[in-house]
Amino acid sequence: MPDYSSLAATVASLTEGESDEVALMATLACELHHSDDRFDWTGFYRVTEPGLLKIGPYQGGHGCLKIPFDRGVCGAAARSGETQLVPDVDAFPGHIACASSTRSELVIPVRNGSGAVIGVLDIDSNQPDAFTPEDARQLEEILHSVFCGRP
Ligand code: SME
Repeated sequence: MPDYSSLAATVASLTEGESDEVALMATLACELHHSDDRFDWTGFYRVTEPGLLKIGPYQGGHGCLKIPFDRGVCGAAARSGETQLVPDVDAFPGHIACASSTRSELVIPVRNGSGAVIGVLDIDSNQPDAFTPEDARQLEEILHSVFCGRP
């Protein structure tokens, strides 16, 4: 598990004064991806129109371009506004396999200062059951500090 407090401090200093969502997402995807060997794909999907997610900044292999809200783990997170911690992607109905090597996944909704869901953070691992509720809690906090403090 990464040292989340130093990761949060690094992210805070790298994103200080920045309000552009894509710039923030690109910086976060890079820092998160290189913070832990469990993270094999780390990236964002953005809400580009009601009911549709489109790929944003990411690190790792190819990511699917579009995900409707009624599909996949990402769609479930955007639709429900709830974090999705998936220990076994084969057991998740409707999981979208962008990479056949993925075994487990963590998807967290991203909200802006008005509380609107502007996208999701998606992290895939080639390890089964790779993510813990503590990972989810710490990453939710980092996302809140980066995106909710901005208009
Ligand atoms: N597995 C995701 C799709 C995105 S890839 O993991 C990058 C899903 O089921 O929504």
